This record gives sequence, C-alpha cells and structure tokens, in this order.
Amino acid sequence: MASHLLYLFLILNSFFILSASTATNTTITQEKTCPFESIYQFGDSISDVGNLIRKGPAGAKSYAARLPYGEAFLHRPTGRCSNGLLMIDYIAMALRLPLLNPYLQPFVPKDHGVNFAVAGSTALNSSFFMARGIHVPQSNSPLSLQLNWFRNHLKLLCQTRKDCEKRLQRALVFVGEIGGNDYNYAFFQGKLVEEISTYVPHVVRATTDAVEEVIGEGAIRVVVPGNFPVGCIPIYLTSFPNSNPNAYDDLKCLKDLNKFARFHNNHLKRALEKLRQKYPHVVILYADYYAAFLSVLRRAPHLGFEPSSLNKACCGIGGQYNYDGSRMCGHAGVPVCSNPKQHIHWDGVHLTQEAYRHMSEWLLHEILSKIKCVW
Ligand SMILES: *[C@@H]1O[C@H](CO)[C@@H](O)[C@H](O)[C@H]1NC(C)=O
Ligand SMILES: *[C@@H]1O[C@H](CO)[C@@H](O)[C@H](O)[C@H]1NC(C)=O
Repeated sequence: MASHLLYLFLILNSFFILSASTATNTTITQEKTCPFESIYQFGDSISDVGNLIRKGPAGAKSYAARLPYGEAFLHRPTGRCSNGLLMIDYIAMALRLPLLNPYLQPFVPKDHGVNFAVAGSTALNSSFFMARGIHVPQSNSPLSLQLNWFRNHLKLLCQTRKDCEKRLQRALVFVGEIGGNDYNYAFFQGKLVEEISTYVPHVVRATTDAVEEVIGEGAIRVVVPGNFPVGCIPIYLTSFPNSNPNAYDDLKCLKDLNKFARFHNNHLKRALEKLRQKYPHVVILYADYYAAFLSVLRRAPHLGFEPSSLNKACCGIGGQYNYDGSRMCGHAGVPVCSNPKQHIHWDGVHLTQEAYRHMSEWLLHEILSKIKCVW
C-alpha cells in the first residue's frame, strides 16, 4: 500500500511539475491550441533568409553572402542579415515548424511555408521612387513581385482553389516588416522628412493591399509588423548627428526619427483597424516591432548586453557608433566585436541574433495571446 501511495505521489508530483512548466511556457501551451501547419513571410532584410543572395550576380555579391554574416548559426553566410538567426526563425521554432526556406532556393522543402522576403525590398514599386528621383537597387523585389511569387507557389502547392484555401487557413502569414526601406532610400538620398511623410499613405496602402491579397487567397491569420524606432539605429545615428542634446531621448535615440517611425506605425495601425472591420473572420494582428525593440533596449543590462555598446555596431568600424557606410561589415579589414552576444546591433543596420531572439520572445507573447485558434 505504502509503495502504491509513493507511486501515486510521484506521478502526481511529476504531473504538477509538468503542468507548472507548461503553464509558464507560452510556446507549449499555444502549440496545443494553435497547430499552424505553415508560415508565409513577405518582407525585407529583417526577414530575408536567403533570397537576395540568390537573386542574380548583384545579390550574390551582397554583404549577407559573406562572413562574418551567419557565423553564429551555421558558421557560414546564409543570406540572413545578421550574425545568426532572425525573428522569423525563432517564431518558426516556437511554433514547432521547420525554419522557412527562401523562395529562390530550389529543391528544398516548401510544404511548411515559404519565405519571400528579400533584403533591400520596398513596399512600393521601384517606379514610385524613380518618379521622385530616388535610386533603388536593381535587385529591389517589392511586395508586388513577392505576391507574384506567392501566387506561383500556390499553383504548385495545391490543385484547386479550395485546396489552397484549406492550407492557408492553417497558416500564419507575416506581411512585413516592409516599408522601412521605402523611407531609408529617401532619407539617405537627402529627401526631407516633410516629403518622406507624404509617402506614408502609399506605403501603408501597398502593405494593406498585400494583406487583402493573401486574405483573398484564403489566409485567416495575418501578422503585420510596424517599423523599428529608426532613431536608435547606428546608421541613422551616424548619418543624422545633432549637436543639440535635446534632439536625443533618454535612450540616446534621435527623437525626430523615432517620431517619424511612430507616424508610419500609427498610420498602419489605423489602416489595419479598417481591414478588421472589412474582414471580421480574419485575425489581423499588428506586431509592435517598435515597442519590442525598445523593450529590449530598456532591459538591455539585465539581458546581458554590454551597457557601453547599446548603440554601437558589433561588426563595423569608425565613429561614435562603430559604423561607416563606406566600410561596412563584410568588407576586408572590418573587425567583429569579441562577444556578439553582448551587442544589440550587428552591422549598424541590422540586429544580432541575440537581440532578435529577445525581440521574438516579446513578440510571440503578444502574438500568441491574441491569435485565436478555434479549429
Ligand atoms: C519553452 O519551450 C521551448 C521549447 O521546448 C524552450 O526552448 C524554451 O526555452 C521554453 N521557455 C521557457 C520560458 O521555459
Ligand atoms: C507594381 O507593379 C506591378 C507589376 O509590375 C503591377 O502589377 C502593379 O499594379 C504595380 N503597383 C502599383 C501600385 O503601381
């Protein structure tokens, strides 16, 4: 009898330990209620896992095709603009799905989703920028092109429209982050914020058009990320120095540039609210990259980031922010910091794997608590 009781006690005990650990783990709890079968990603370098480096000779020469990019993941470049993994990789892992393969990589599995994001891409067509005297790379693969790829992919994936819809109903679709480059190209080519602000409705429209397109194909769970607080990013801090200390906030970020990012984000949030009314059966989530980044920056010392390097690139050289556009990470002779795990910024434009991991944890909590799984 005693041994039976002991046995029962052990079972109960392990049951409680188990349920206690699952209760605190959003990943596991969510996996039971929300069995996504695939992820589709549209976007730019924040989520490109290898499309740009496969896009012609120019792409193959891009920084993301060289070490030290990728050194923390496969010890070789994968096309990700970081030392290792990106947020979308961590999100796929949390949902117990394989990492997404890039659309342009042939002969790799694509049945659990595809990544269409291309580094450097804009939300708007290249013609929009040409008309305004702004140069965009020839490799630019705007949302309209990524959507063409998506439609081509669906043609191969499913036989009938109904079949496609069924698959997309069990998919999580990320439209973005996208739009950051639409502004980057303009800012770094000398356009004034007054003019760039007029692009915002166009960028947001292109983004919501893409959301409507994927909804039209059958998606019912769409995540739309906003822009980063660009005033905290070394490339912006280096390019727009300000001698007035009041131009910087308590986190040493440029206030006006962050204000511009919030302007875009607020516009996007309002547009998404309208989409929710138009498509009440679809869960449309705004992913707050702005808040996620600031949350990591504020908690940086507790998360193990080096307090003296919070706005300095890990891989880079020169200036106050360890960033020089003419000698970027990947160039011969440009050093890499000794402990990338203690840096938020990787190359002055993109973040380290460690920063992306923390951001994705913050975001997953947000996303999974709001996404309703009913099947
Ligand atoms: C949650 O579970 C995942 C997968 O098993 C694990 O990698 C992660 O560390 C866990 N997180 C917490 C907070 O326990
Ligand atoms: C962008 O270009 C694509 C293909 O070239 C075209 O179908 C689409 O209408 C264009 N979109 C806009 C907003 O101009």
